[in-house]
Amino acid sequence: MGVIFARMERDQAAKRITELGEQLERHNHLYYVEARPEISDQEFDFLMKELEALEKQYPELASPNSPTQRVGGDITKAFPTVAHRWPMLSLDNSYSREEVADFVHRVEREAGPVRFVMELKYDGVAISLAYRNGELVRGVTRGDGEQGEDITANVRTVRTIPLHLRDQPPADLEARGEIIMGLREFESLNLEREKQGEERFANPRNTTAGTLKLQDPKLVARRRLQNFIYDLYTATPPSRSHYDNIMQARAWGFRTPDPHKRFIARANGLEDIMDFIAHWDKARHGLDIAIDGVVIKVDDLGVREDLGLRAKSPRWAIAYKFPAENKATRLNGVEFNVGRTGAVTPVALLEPVELAGTTVKRASIHNADQIAKLDLHFGDMVQVEKGGEIIPKITGVDLARRPAGAVAVRYPANCPECGTPLVRDEGEAQHYCPNEHGCPPQITRRIEHFVGRKAMDIGGLGGETVEALYQAKLIGNVADLYDLKQEQLLAMGKGWGERSTQLIIEGIAASRSVPFERVLFALGIRHVGETVAKKIAREAGSIDRLAAMAREELTGISEVGAVIADSIIDFFAAEGNRRIVHRLREAGVQMTGSANHQRPQSGLLKGLSVVVSGVFKTFTRDGIKLAIEDNGGRVSGSISKKTSFVVAGADMGPAKLAKASELGVNVIDEEAFRRMIEP
Ligand code: IVH
Repeated sequence: MGVIFARMERDQAAKRITELGEQLERHNHLYYVEARPEISDQEFDFLMKELEALEKQYPELASPNSPTQRVGGDITKAFPTVAHRWPMLSLDNSYSREEVADFVHRVEREAGPVRFVMELKYDGVAISLAYRNGELVRGVTRGDGEQGEDITANVRTVRTIPLHLRDQPPADLEARGEIIMGLREFESLNLEREKQGEERFANPRNTTAGTLKLQDPKLVARRRLQNFIYDLYTATPPSRSHYDNIMQARAWGFRTPDPHKRFIARANGLEDIMDFIAHWDKARHGLDIAIDGVVIKVDDLGVREDLGLRAKSPRWAIAYKFPAENKATRLNGVEFNVGRTGAVTPVALLEPVELAGTTVKRASIHNADQIAKLDLHFGDMVQVEKGGEIIPKITGVDLARRPAGAVAVRYPANCPECGTPLVRDEGEAQHYCPNEHGCPPQITRRIEHFVGRKAMDIGGLGGETVEALYQAKLIGNVADLYDLKQEQLLAMGKGWGERSTQLIIEGIAASRSVPFERVLFALGIRHVGETVAKKIAREAGSIDRLAAMAREELTGISEVGAVIADSIIDFFAAEGNRRIVHRLREAGVQMTGSANHQRPQSGLLKGLSVVVSGVFKTFTRDGIKLAIEDNGGRVSGSISKKTSFVVAGADMGPAKLAKASELGVNVIDEEAFRRMIEP
């Protein structure tokens, strides 16, 4: 049905656009968030059409947060990377009620009796939503926790996310929550796909993640995603209670968990918590959304502050994961895979079985002890379980169904790839192939790791291409990559065209400017993951310095323990590794913190001991600590007589404030701190 609206004068149109925008947002909220619509779908569509027509007539009057954007705006060409103002942490997982009890006891030991809040753990995609003066300005994915992707246009299509807030929210507000796809929506999407002859999507979580990365917001809008908000960040939170803040967020227009449905509840102790878990262990099967557990959080923001954080998760919260799904199937064989570090892992080859929405054909068995413990025999009926982890595991064997004459599975004494006798370090569960520089899969997987996205990010190179180049004897280690010529790649034959080989050569060239911290991660030193590599790169500053560091110096770096320190020492002790590092440096790869990673140095805070507390507007927590150290100060964890001053952000705990005033320690805010370190 075509509807024709009369043309309007500009002033009048502007007024009407605002009016329609407000009405449509209100009805949208009533329909999607509160589930109590006041007008019919037809009336809603009619208002929307009127707004579309006016915006078409006066495009300059259309706001990016217009309700018309709910159905999808322009194509997004790329999703820019944005740093999070506050890191997006994850949660520690627990799988038993005992672990939950341990958590509660630890908290109570450290903080006295406290109130907890329990929520559902939504199995979707985390999102951070920034609002300025009540207007949605940005939606960013979690990414690696420190930076994520700006997917604002797609976020606007999620009907339960408010584009404008009401009731005077703080001018600067970040709401965090989970974007999810309802189970019915997921099922109908899959039915549609089947009809079109397309493959079914595996599960709602991956489908949500994939949907949010679509470049056409119109397609995103059609998928009917929804969300829940579970966290707020602002300099002026309305209350010191998380629960009350969530209720306030609801009044601002956010979709938050409903206490009447018991999606969120307060608890005064372990008994209430266990009761909530028991309730949802059963009741979750009746929900239209996928949840994978329950989250238990300390309610009081001040107590949270006192309990503090670990590297990637808060010490004031824990997730309890529901028991994983289980099925029995036959063990057809076992494969022994050799990884990048030489670790040999057994993988079970199974009779395919449907489990938690996916077809399972392989499962991990971890190590030799596990094979022995399960007493695995070929042909056994095994119990397969899929929990939070992506790869399912074998948890048991049905001895009664073992076929007669079944042969036991044996862990090999020699590397299945190169024949070298395997070794097992004292106290370690894993067997290793020690033939680091001669065992083919170790070599190729190290190179694959090196070129990976989080390491040197050499686009165009991946598992298959690396393997092919290794087979062709063009590369035998990561340094050889920098000697590759395009002619050599072109000569590889089919599949190695002008364009793709050029991309590889360009990718290799570009990797020369990858910052040192990622180079360090790329080297694949055992136990040196992304986070540790970052810390070490900052502390050591250069590879030469790192290679020269003594064990005690290494263990002095936060997050570096004896195991990591020894692994670093072993790495540099090997002549082969030193040669590779030398060749990489010759090739122009960054072996020191580069100019823009080198931090400014001053002595402005020399001799001062500084405590930081709370969340900051213009610094991440690591950022403010770095700023103190860069200016010669020392960061200390607790307030004492020796503390020179405290930098307080929002949410500084009352206990800390009291302590500071008792000891007469100065407390300054973020702006004052900035002025202090400004040159
Ligand atoms: S709170 C610092 N609450 O679980 C705490 N997270 O493993 C931040 N999640 O990335 C998270 N439901 O995506 C919180 N009610 C809930 C949640 C929840 C799901 C997700 C979230 C986070 C992951 C942590």
